[in-house]
Amino acid sequence: MRRDLTGKSIIITGASSGIGAATAIRCAAVGMDIVLHGRDAERLAHVASRVRDAGRRAVTIVGDVTEPDLNDRLLGAAEGELGGVYAVFANAGYGFKKPAHEVTDDELRRIFDVNFFAANALLGAAARRLIAAGRPGHLLMCSSAIALFTTQRFSAYSATKAAQHHVCRAMRMELAPHGIEVTSVHPITTRTDFFDRAAVYAGRPSDPDGAFDGVPRWLLQRPEQVADAIVRCLRRPRPEVWTALGPRILAAAMHVFPRLMDTIGRRVP
Ligand SMILES: NC(=O)c1ccc[n+]([C@@H]2O[C@H](COP(=O)([O-])OP(=O)(O)OC[C@H]3O[C@@H](n4cnc5c(N)ncnc54)[C@H](OP(=O)(O)O)[C@@H]3O)[C@@H](O)[C@H]2O)c1
Repeated sequence: MRRDLTGKSIIITGASSGIGAATAIRCAAVGMDIVLHGRDAERLAHVASRVRDAGRRAVTIVGDVTEPDLNDRLLGAAEGELGGVYAVFANAGYGFKKPAHEVTDDELRRIFDVNFFAANALLGAAARRLIAAGRPGHLLMCSSAIALFTTQRFSAYSATKAAQHHVCRAMRMELAPHGIEVTSVHPITTRTDFFDRAAVYAGRPSDPDGAFDGVPRWLLQRPEQVADAIVRCLRRPRPEVWTALGPRILAAAMHVFPRLMDTIGRRVP
């Protein structure tokens, strides 16, 4: 059955840019009120103004997802200012491009802290509150198409995304009896700041114009395409959100023909 989202709230982490910002704007367009989170207060305020322009309520919370009290602040804002939590989209995250043998322990721990532990903690805290209140809800996590396979130099990143995928799958089975939906979101290459930032995190110079050079068109999409797919999923909950079939076929091929696919993968820059 199609769900009416009017007046329902959603917490979106990493809502200051890219997929999170586009999702906030699309959610507002279908009547949702939003707790917007990010680190960049100025960009967050801009997204909040777009939500308010659509006639919906927006609360902004600034902070790093690894801050210990952040989840309480996010959930408290939804409960105190928007009438309670309905949905959560744990979206904040970053990419990191380096050969596996060069990734330091600190780099690996940091990317797991941000992409995996913070998202896992937020969904867990939201689930406990929904269960205690006896209310249904919908929890989503932004994983990736490369949760199912990896490419050269993306080992650390894709490991965090695979971990998210597994947690969502288990949570979905565990929370179904409580009327709580859980969805993992698997974008393909999306035109956001993600790739330029991934280069900078790995110590290379910023080059926003060249960030998508060499990416085939069939693997490229706009953040609004992901946002629209998420809104469709909020209306009609499903286990996973995919916006392209290609990576799923690629993942299956990698499972069945690993040697052949490694040979092809080595040619990808
Ligand atoms: N772009 C792609 O091709 C792609 C593909 C698959 C999956 N994804 C996933 O999509 C999600 C969103 O990425 P995007 O493409 O929209 O990139 P983006 O434009 O760089 O947005 C990333 C968002 O995450 C926030 N963020 C990052 N690290 C944070 C931290 N430590 N604490 C708090 N907030 C933090 C950023 O906040 P500030 O800017 O305010 O610092 C920003 O709002 C990520 O989980 C990413 O892994 C992206």
